[in-house]
Amino acid sequence: SYGCDVVIIFTEEEEGLVVKSWNLMKKDAAEWGLKFFLKIFEIAPSAQKIFPFLRDSNVPLEQNPKLKPHAKSVFVMTCEAALQLRKAGKVVIRESTLNKLGTVHSKYGVVDEHFEVTKYALLETIKEAVGEIWSPEMKKAWSVAYDHLVAAIKSHMNPQS
Ligand code: HEM
Repeated sequence: SYGCDVVIIFTEEEEGLVVKSWNLMKKDAAEWGLKFFLKIFEIAPSAQKIFPFLRDSNVPLEQNPKLKPHAKSVFVMTCEAALQLRKAGKVVIRESTLNKLGTVHSKYGVVDEHFEVTKYALLETIKEAVGEIWSPEMKKAWSVAYDHLVAAIKSHMNPQS
């Protein structure tokens, strides 16, 4: 598993900041999810080629029905990671789920740079969504949760060649 026995200190305040901002976005999750991924593709157009359902489709990007669910998964799983970091000091995901996530992301050629661009776009999207309650502390809390989630996924991916 990832991270050995290291316990991450993630405070109740940090958890609260993630939950509070996610609650503001949740009812429009599909729309924010779409914005999120459009940001990713704006920064890294080649990332579109990673997604089979975008590669093989004639539908305009923003109308592709499969894009929003993936975007929402990233949000929801990052938020869940924050809850677990607070509760257990680590990201807890079922081994079978992690194996699946590791396999899928390796298979489609997702590399470190994709996770980095995605992190940047995620934070930018939350910033836009929450408006004036955005703060360095909120950014930090989402960053830490995302980084630990990605570390867990990467620990189940094949090494990059
Ligand atoms: C599939 C989550 C980052 C590309 C998936 C699935 C989930 C998921 C839940 C479905 C797995 C299944 O089939 O059961 C996440 C999370 C991420 C993340 C939580 C970050 C924290 C990324 C990034 C990329 C990416 C950065 C590429 C830019 C894909 C692709 C698939 C996939 C290509 C397969 C699409 C398909 O099923 O057709 N991801 N993902 N993911 N993800 Fe991600």
